[in-house]
Amino acid sequence: MTAPLTERSPLMPTYPPPAVTFVRGKGSELWDDAGKRYLDFLGGLAVTALGHAHPAVADAVSEQARTLLHVSNLFGNTVGPEVARTLDRLLGGGGQVFFGNSGAEANECAIKLARRFGGRGRYGVVSTYGSFHGRTLATLHATGQPAKHEAFQPLPEGFKHVAWEDLDALDAALTPDVAAVLLEPIQGEGGVRPAPPAYLQGVRRLCDERGALLMVDEVQTGLGRTGAWFGFQHAGVEPDVVTMAKALGNGVPIGACWAREDVAGTFEPGDHASTFGGQPLAAAAARATLAVMEAEDAPARARRAGARLTELLTALPGVSEVRGLGLLLAAELAGGDAKAVQAECLRRGLVLNAVTPTALRFAPSLLVTDDELDEAVSIVARVHP
Ligand SMILES: Cc1ncc(COP(=O)(O)O)c(C=O)c1O
Repeated sequence: MTAPLTERSPLMPTYPPPAVTFVRGKGSELWDDAGKRYLDFLGGLAVTALGHAHPAVADAVSEQARTLLHVSNLFGNTVGPEVARTLDRLLGGGGQVFFGNSGAEANECAIKLARRFGGRGRYGVVSTYGSFHGRTLATLHATGQPAKHEAFQPLPEGFKHVAWEDLDALDAALTPDVAAVLLEPIQGEGGVRPAPPAYLQGVRRLCDERGALLMVDEVQTGLGRTGAWFGFQHAGVEPDVVTMAKALGNGVPIGACWAREDVAGTFEPGDHASTFGGQPLAAAAARATLAVMEAEDAPARARRAGARLTELLTALPGVSEVRGLGLLLAAELAGGDAKAVQAECLRRGLVLNAVTPTALRFAPSLLVTDDELDEAVSIVARVHP
């Protein structure tokens, strides 16, 4: 028998039932449907890098909505190319951009590009165990978490995984059919694990030796969050392909795949497309977001606030390790159950996330204030002294 409507969610059961329903946000603050205030130290999973309801983004979105929301990519618009030029400049120049709507779509573009660049017979993508690259069938297979694969076999062919930080394993995996290596500069969903610079430099060297592309997934780490515009910049390497999404529209869905021009140029008209990708509305949000990020020097803000948050968390007796870069941090709890700590923090008005069973993830707004950092850590300290 069908359950009464009041008991049945209208949404598919892909997420657990939510503990809280939010209705409003401003800066680092959120309010739920009962009017209770929260400090948001998760930022919509590293999305709202400028905080909620940033006036520059809100104005840009509303002005663009009154001007031109959408035109097909069969025609031009003025906003998308402007955002692409800004991204290319922040990435050092010499590349081209494809726009989609999400991180997974940005990575799908990278995977298709790798196959186009590699040519027939050279299609493989090597990624690392513990990685996360998305939930579409191809990006799910690139995601190095076999437990997530099982229910959805068979997944698209052409993916293999090697241990994180293991250059010998990568060396062995780079067979002639491999077109690209795909990795995050900090494994985000995998527990906030930064790649040591020497590892990324070693990956670059191996890719050069074998003629494989180095594709860096900056969906979570990109656009200032780690204290640099892009996470790979901490290692001084130059990737061939960079994907990004989350922070790009400060909450308006937009993803981007950047590639060196000679790589991007292997795509031909008709090879790839997205109805909404780079449309004026989402691009206007990204243009405003990037303008504020540059004006505020978002990477410097993330470095400064991240150093303070690291110091405050490290001083807590209940925290055994703080890892990450800038404002993408994890606090390992000494003898702690991170899910229980997360739930109690939420009850006390702090939003964060148990990224592993024993670690809390912090990804607040890059514009977070010192007072907000102090308030958040004092809540954690009370919950897990
Ligand atoms: C590194 C990384 N890549 C890709 C994705 C997928 O992005 P989306 O959920 O926008 O498809 C995520 C999402 O968490 C991510 O962290």
